[in-house]
Amino acid sequence: MSTDTPTEPAAGPTPEARTLRVAHVSSEVAPWAKSGGLGDVLGALPQALHALGDVQVATFCPLHRAVRKTANQQARLLEDTGVRSTLPVGDREHTGRWLVHRAEGQPPVYFLEEDGLFDRADLYTAYEQGSRGSDNGRRFAFFARAALQAAPELMGGPLDVLHAHDWQGAPALLYLKGPDAGAHPGTRGVLTIHNLAYQGIFRGSDAPAMGLELDAPLQHPGDAHLLNLLKGGIAAADAVTTVSPRYAEEVTTPAFGHGLDGWLRERAAPVHGILNGIDTEEWAPARDLALPATYSAEALSGKATCRRQLLRDMGLPTDGEDLVLGVVSRMASQKGLDLVLGLVPHLERLRARLVVLGTGAWELEDAFRAGARAFPDRLAARIAFKVPLSHRITAGADAFLVPSRFEPCGLTQLYAMRYGTVPVVHAVGGLADTVRDPGDAALARGEGTGFCFHEPTTEALVEAVARAARLFHADPEGWRRVQLAGMRGDFSWAPSAERYRALYRELTG
Ligand code: ADP
Ligand code: GLC
Repeated sequence: MSTDTPTEPAAGPTPEARTLRVAHVSSEVAPWAKSGGLGDVLGALPQALHALGDVQVATFCPLHRAVRKTANQQARLLEDTGVRSTLPVGDREHTGRWLVHRAEGQPPVYFLEEDGLFDRADLYTAYEQGSRGSDNGRRFAFFARAALQAAPELMGGPLDVLHAHDWQGAPALLYLKGPDAGAHPGTRGVLTIHNLAYQGIFRGSDAPAMGLELDAPLQHPGDAHLLNLLKGGIAAADAVTTVSPRYAEEVTTPAFGHGLDGWLRERAAPVHGILNGIDTEEWAPARDLALPATYSAEALSGKATCRRQLLRDMGLPTDGEDLVLGVVSRMASQKGLDLVLGLVPHLERLRARLVVLGTGAWELEDAFRAGARAFPDRLAARIAFKVPLSHRITAGADAFLVPSRFEPCGLTQLYAMRYGTVPVVHAVGGLADTVRDPGDAALARGEGTGFCFHEPTTEALVEAVARAARLFHADPEGWRRVQLAGMRGDFSWAPSAERYRALYRELTG
C-alpha cells in the first residue's frame, strides 16, 4: 500500500486554530455522479470548506458507471492512489481500488472502484440476490466502511471528523462507533440528513453480511426484522444536521418525520439546520456556457434571448407575451408534480405556458407526455436528465414552480432566483426559508423574491400562479423589481461552510 501526499488547504490556518481533517462520505458528487441536490451539495460544500483555509477536506464516493463516463467526456484524470480496501460483504471478500481526482485549488475527490458493486446503469440500480433481496444496503455499507478505513491513509493522518451524508454514507458512522472504533479513537461523526424520506431499509439478515449487529438503534421502527441505516446513523452520530432551519424543526413532527420524528425528538442534542448554498460558478447567468446568451442584474436583455430560444427548442409558440413557467425536478411524490398536472388546463386562461424537465415515476412521466399531447401550445415536457437543458430552462423561464409536499432545502428555487426567474413555491422546509413573499403590493415594490402558497393543493398552486401572472401581465416594472430582488440575494456557500466548521470545532473541542 502506498500513501498519497496530503492536500494542503489553499490558505494558512488562523494562528490559534488547528487545521481540522474532515472526510465527506457520499454516494453522489457533482459533476461526476448526481441524481439530485445531494450531488450538487457535495460538489460545492467541500470546496467552500477548503477555501476557509483551516479545514483539510476530501470527498469519498463510489466509482459509479456515471463517474467513468464523466471522466471520459470531460477528459478528467483519475489517478490510482495505490491504496486498496479489502472487506467482507456477506460470505465473500471484495477489494476496491481508490482512485483520485485532483484539480488546482480544489480538495481531492476519492473514488472507490469495484465494478462488481458500482458499475451499474444508474447510481441506485440494485441487483436482486434471490431470497436475499436488493444488494444496495450491502454495497453502500462496503463503500462507507472502506472510506472510513482508507481516509486517514489517503489524507495523511487521523480524521477529526467523518461527515456522512444520507443513508448511503450513514454506515460509516456505524463502523466508526462499532466494529472499527478502536482504529479511530479521536474521530467524531457528523450525519447530514438531506432527505428523511430515504432511510436505507433492508432485511435484518443483511446486518451480519455487513459486519453489523442488528441492535435496537439499527432496527427499523415497527419492524424489528428490518434494519434502517439512516436511523442507525442518527443514533451513532455525534451531531446530526439537516439542510435548512425550517426542515430541522419539521423533521421532529409526525407530518414530516417519516416515522423517525419520535426518535429525533428523543435525541439529547437538537438537529442543526444549516441552509445549503449554491455553486455560484456553475450557476452564473453572466458566464453560463449552456445558455444561448448571458446576462446579469445590470444587463438583463440576454434573458429575453434565452426565453425565445427555449420556446423555440421546446416547440412552443414564440409570439405573444404569455408567462413562461419552468419546472426541473425529480418526478417523485415529494415534488408535488401532480399539482402541476392539475394546473395545465388553467394555463390558457392564465396566459401562461409551461416547460417541464424531469424523470422518475413512470405514472408522472406518462401523464406529462399525455398533457403535452393534449395541450401542445401550452405544455412541453422533456422526460430526461439533462444538466445543460436544466440551465436553459432556469434562464429562459419567467417563473419557476416548486410545489413540493416537503422540501429539506431545495436548490432549484435558488438557481431560479439567481437567474432572475421568479419562484412560485409551497412554503415548506427550505422553500419557506429562502423565498420571501410579503404579498402582492410589497412584491411589486421589490420587497420580496417570489410567490408562496400554503396548502399542497392544485387550487392553491393555481391561485399562486394567478398572482404571478397578474403581476407579470399588469405591472412589468413591478415584476422586474421581484426579479432583481432575487438576483441580488446571497446564496453562496461561505456562511454555511463557516457554520459547519463551527460545529466541527465544537465537537472536536
Ligand atoms: P432533490 O435533491 O430533492 O432532487 P434539489 O432541488 O435539492 O432537489 O436538487 C435537484 C437537483 O437536480 C438540481 O440541480 C436540479 O437542477 C437537478 N435536476 C433534477 N431533475 C433534473 C433533470 N431531469 N435534468 C437535469 N437536472 C435535474
Ligand atoms: C435532498 C432534498 C433537497 C435538498 C438536497 C440537497 O435531495 O430533497 O431538498 O436540497 O437533498 O441537500
